Amino acid sequence: MADYETVQHDVLVIGAGGAGLRAAIEASAAGVSVGLVCKSLLGKAHTVMAEGGIAAALANVDERDNWKVHFADTMRGGQYVNQWRMAELHAKEAPDRVRELEAWGAVFDRTQDGRILQRNFGGHKYPRLAHVGDRTGLEMIRTLQDHGVHQGIEVHMEHTILSILKAGDRAVGAFGYERERGRFKIFRAKAIVLATGGIGRAYKITSNSWEYTGDGHSLAYEAGAELIDMEFMQFHPTGMVWPPSVCGILVTEGVRGEGGILTNKEGRRFMFDQIPENYRAQTADNEEEGWRYCQGDKNARRPPELLTRDHIARCIVREIKEGRGSPHGGVYLDIAWIKQKLPNAADYIKRKLPSMYHQFKQLADIDITEQPMEVGPTTHYIMGGIHVDPDTQMSRVPGLFAAGECAAGINGANRLGGNSLSDLLVFGKRAGEFAAKFAKDNSLGEIDPPQADKIDMAAREALQPFERSAAENPYLVQRDLQETMQDNVGIVRNETEMKSALEHLRTFWERANRAGVTGHREFNPGWHTALDLKNLLTVSEAITRAALERKESRGAQFREDYPNKDERFANLNTMISKADDGSMKVRLEPLPEMPDYLKRVVEDNR
Ligand code: FUM
Repeated sequence: MADYETVQHDVLVIGAGGAGLRAAIEASAAGVSVGLVCKSLLGKAHTVMAEGGIAAALANVDERDNWKVHFADTMRGGQYVNQWRMAELHAKEAPDRVRELEAWGAVFDRTQDGRILQRNFGGHKYPRLAHVGDRTGLEMIRTLQDHGVHQGIEVHMEHTILSILKAGDRAVGAFGYERERGRFKIFRAKAIVLATGGIGRAYKITSNSWEYTGDGHSLAYEAGAELIDMEFMQFHPTGMVWPPSVCGILVTEGVRGEGGILTNKEGRRFMFDQIPENYRAQTADNEEEGWRYCQGDKNARRPPELLTRDHIARCIVREIKEGRGSPHGGVYLDIAWIKQKLPNAADYIKRKLPSMYHQFKQLADIDITEQPMEVGPTTHYIMGGIHVDPDTQMSRVPGLFAAGECAAGINGANRLGGNSLSDLLVFGKRAGEFAAKFAKDNSLGEIDPPQADKIDMAAREALQPFERSAAENPYLVQRDLQETMQDNVGIVRNETEMKSALEHLRTFWERANRAGVTGHREFNPGWHTALDLKNLLTVSEAITRAALERKESRGAQFREDYPNKDERFANLNTMISKADDGSMKVRLEPLPEMPDYLKRVVEDNR
């Protein structure tokens, strides 16, 4: 094997967003040495873009809230294909994780009597989102980073991991490169936690930052782990649509939580038109009641703008398709209307939603205290990901753990807003705890000769783009891939378009294998893009194959050729794995049977 720089840790965490930082903190607290790899600079993780809050049943604003209601809300939102054990652990442990974050220095907004303030969000029965204005993710990262760095975690910034190293079945390290100098590096570790976030960059319109190229999903798949429920891609209903340079940037659901309404070009609140049966009893049927709910009236029902994201995104698409959209191809999100209700509305909006105020003022020259925003769906979050044990977060590859968005199970077919930040904390902590335990119980695995060959091969493969003349431009391959996924495997799907997407993906694989770059290895963005293509293509194929396999509409998957929910799929997850011949295999697997005590919780909280 060539001579690569090698570092060694007991636990290696790949990804430095909320889940990765929380895992690193927990592992480090257990007394093992921890390395933390981030693709960009520490503190720039995409978690900072989670704006509206952390869902946890603290019951600070409504004393009727508790873990059971949160569990039932999460299962209903996920249309019951969630891994119930994960949803249970999440609902039970989220309040402690939020209090812990506060103890570590997070400065939350407060209630009148000084407790952590909670706001309304879609699909949550009670005000449940602990928040810091509309900058909650930023405060979370700041707090975790501060805590982690003081604990002695070793941080490897601007590194990209290319493959997981194995000895036999077990994961024993990772191989990657330093983006700044372009040099390869071996990370040896007794246990590895993947916390690389999502895949939004597989789509043209996305709220996700450039790092979100499905690295963890793809690394785990290549290492032999399974991916679950990849068809469930969340399109957040409200991203910016104008100007084009900022299309897709998130407009927090907090706007609707604070009373924002959705209207079409006729000025009509179209969300009243179609209230799903399973939410009818909880949803207001008139404007006055919806407003009272946002103002904290416990007897009022929620406005239809706080239905689940899958449903709202589809309603917006319908308005646009039927010609009732806004000039730039969205609909209107209006918070300025609350002037009719509150004497000091402009101050209220600026205090509750400071980032949204600045975002629209600076990027679109819109004053949201006076004018409505134009918004439309944006690719935001993947519910599918690495299949893990609910308690330990270990994948089926011994020593390989995953947490946060790249892991999956808790959200089922649709995630409720705010459940991701609590997911990061709850399962980040668990992954760190069990990875540390695994590291204590196992010695450092040997990099055996076949593995050494694989490392050399990975290095040669990574350098190939420099050797190709008359090559494909990696940016163009990425652009075409994003367009194909947006157009053919988006909010509304059908078999013909998805099969055509698979055909396109086949040609994109060929083009990616011909992708070439010029220049040298030191911070070469073209080279980085060429190397990201494999991950983007893997997750795109997984999404498409899983979506074809689920011949029904459920949660975030809407198929116009199978527009209804089908009982035959009610108990099934899709599972993706790599076959021995290198092809992608998809199968359906029954969900574990929910125990009676949880069935009662669901029944009692319908
Ligand atoms: O709308 C938002 O603030 C996003 C939050 C989330 O996706 O959890």
